[in-house]
Order: sequence, then structure tokens, then C-alpha cells
Amino acid sequence: MNISRRLNQVPASPIRKLVPLADAAKKRGTHVIHLNIGDPDIETPRVMTDRLRQWQGGIPYAHSQGDAELIAALLKYYRGLGADYLKAENIQVTVGGSEALTMAMAAVADPGEEILVFEPFFPSYHSLAVVQGLKVVPVTTSIADGFHLPKLEQFEALVTPKTRAILLTNPNNPTGTVYRREEVDGLVELVRRKGLFLLADEVYREIVFDGQPSTSLLSYLKVEPDRLVILDSLSKRYSAPGLRLGMMVSLNQDLMAGGLRIAMARLSAGYIDQKAAAGLSQVSQADLAAVRDEHQRRRDVVFAGLKSIKGVTIHQPEGAFYCVVGLPVAEAERFCAWLLSDFSYHGATVMLAPMAGFYLTPGLGKQEVRWAYVVGETKLKQAIEIIGKALATYPESRY
Ligand SMILES: Cc1ncc(COP(=O)(O)O)c(C=O)c1O
Repeated sequence: MNISRRLNQVPASPIRKLVPLADAAKKRGTHVIHLNIGDPDIETPRVMTDRLRQWQGGIPYAHSQGDAELIAALLKYYRGLGADYLKAENIQVTVGGSEALTMAMAAVADPGEEILVFEPFFPSYHSLAVVQGLKVVPVTTSIADGFHLPKLEQFEALVTPKTRAILLTNPNNPTGTVYRREEVDGLVELVRRKGLFLLADEVYREIVFDGQPSTSLLSYLKVEPDRLVILDSLSKRYSAPGLRLGMMVSLNQDLMAGGLRIAMARLSAGYIDQKAAAGLSQVSQADLAAVRDEHQRRRDVVFAGLKSIKGVTIHQPEGAFYCVVGLPVAEAERFCAWLLSDFSYHGATVMLAPMAGFYLTPGLGKQEVRWAYVVGETKLKQAIEIIGKALATYPESRY
């Protein structure tokens, strides 16, 4: 029996596809340091875990739009960032940022239509678009420019009558790039001029380093209310990816009403998850800044350590908790698999995500990996040492 053509086009995630090799390594007794997935070992705020532990109520469906207590907490959070114009009707609670992405794509484009995305990009974008019969059109950014946006005139030509939206990830996964205000200004101007939507995935909003400002679409929603949509998540901000909660935020009333109809069809996000998450009303910007500082310390360890390994190239991340690392190997995916199947140093190895799956343009990213610095300094130093030894041992190394 044939499955659909669309389903056949959905690739396996480069972040997760080597999991069977990691499981086999663990069965052999090798300790695997997981730097493949964006799940930092930072503690979830106690107010949330306490709420979970102490939950005494039932487990009903929640409202399709989201639990009122959580929406009130989210409004408080967004207003704390200056978005005092937001109302409950501008927030749709979703099952992770992932569902916010699916919902926004469905809300802005019909099958056969296109969404421009800057590559390399979070691989789910392509998979979620394919499932809906949409096409992601990549706009390639380059490590030489710190993965910042190309000049508008360089990619405007990619806007066709089928283009419906531009999707920006700010701060970026996998590059760690934080886009400057001029870049966001340019995109807002472009979507206005071309009649498009701008979707901003801001799940890493607070994780911006070196005192740089972060440019959220929250400060643009009022000036372009119909075209702008924010995709958000509690996973990274509160180290709570298992709660599976995110948000779609927009002032476009038709889009929000449509999103709610989709939400009604999937009934609700988890009720207890939302009750636990509502504790975020007690998490301050100062608490989030402390988490950001920890990510920045980790970034510094990784950048200094990897830079000193022969043949390795690395671009200094400006935010989030990932970096793109160029390796002196022909096929980074083969190297990542070899690390898990054939290598260990003092009983441990490292799991990384090969970057080719973060690009749509064939041939790009083959010699790169994404390094998620999601463990503490000691473990990161151990991982850096392991990679140094591995590259010196790997039969296909190209020093
Ligand atoms: C850029 C980006 N957007 C969205 C997500 C989705 O996260 P979640 O569904 O856990 O909210 C991720 C997860 O890694 C991400 O990196």
C-alpha cells in the first residue's frame, strides 16, 4: 500500500536520526554526551515543577485557545517586554512552538505556495511545510557574513507570485546569529512592499549575548498589524521542552480566528502542562538574564576550545545555544556516525547533528556540524577534548 507522496518527501531530522547509533553505543557502555539536541541541562523554574508535583485537580481538556491562567501569565510576560497593547485574543496557546509553526504556515499559505526561509535553518520548517504541501524556498546566508541577512536586493528576486511569507528565526538556530534592527526593518519593509507575511520564530528571544539588543517583532506588531506573526515557545525560555507549550501571537484578527478554529479541531494543549506553565508569571526578566549568562559562559568555553583544534572553523554565536562548526572531514554525517559507532575516549563520545539537513540547497553543510552547547562547562571541555582526539584518529581526517 502506497503512502502519500508528501509523506515520502518528509526527511528524517538530522538532529535525531543518529539516535539508534547513540543507543547502541550506550548499550556497549559508552557514555554519550548529547550535543545534538537543543535541550539544555538548565533547571526548569521551581515554580513550574512545584506546580506539577503539587497538582491535585483533574485532567480535563483545556480551552482550545489556551488556559485562561496561562494566557494571563503570558500577557504579563509580553507586557513586561513593552507589548502593553496585547490582549488575550492576540495569543493562541499551541502544542510547542512546533504547532505554532504548523498553524502559522497553514494560516498564511495554501498548498503549492512558498515561504522564504534563510538557510541554514531549523530542519522542522521544511518537514512541516512539506506535510502541508507548501514549499520552503531557501535564501542562503554565509558564514563569512556571520550568517547575517544578504542585502534585500540579493534575494528579492526569489519572491514570486507564489510567495506568501518570509520566516525569520531570531536568534537563530543553528547559527546563533542575532539579527540587527536594520535587518528586521528591511524585512518589515519588504513584506509591506510585496504584500507578504513575516513570521518571526522567537523561541530564543532572551538568549542574546555580549549586551547586544534583541530585536523582537513585538516592537513592530502595532505598526504592521496584519502582516506580522510571532511564533514562540516555553521550551527554551524555561527549560521546559517536555511541557510542549508554545504560542502564536498576532494582531491579525482573521489569522487568530483561523488559528483558533485549527486549535478547536485538535481540542486543546495539555491541561496540567498549562497549569504548571502558568507559574511563569513568577519568573522575572532577571531570572531569564541569569540563564542567558550561563549560556554565554558556555558559548565562551566552546568557542575558545573548538577554535584551538587544528582544521576546525567556528563562527562566534551571538545568541541561542548552538553554533555551526566546520570540520576537516569530507562528510560530517559519516564522521558523526563514526563517533557513535567506532570511537570513544576514556569511555565517552559525543553526539552532534550533521548540518547538511539544515540546508535545502544540495551540497551545502556537508563538512559542518551543529554543536548545541547544552551541558555544563566541565562536560563541554570533555566534549571538546573528545572531538580533538577523534579528529586526530579519524581515518578520513583532512588536516
Ligand atoms: C527555532 C526553533 N523553533 C521552534 C522550535 C520548536 O520547539 P518546541 O516545539 O519545543 O517549542 C525549536 C526547537 O528546537 C527551534 O529551535
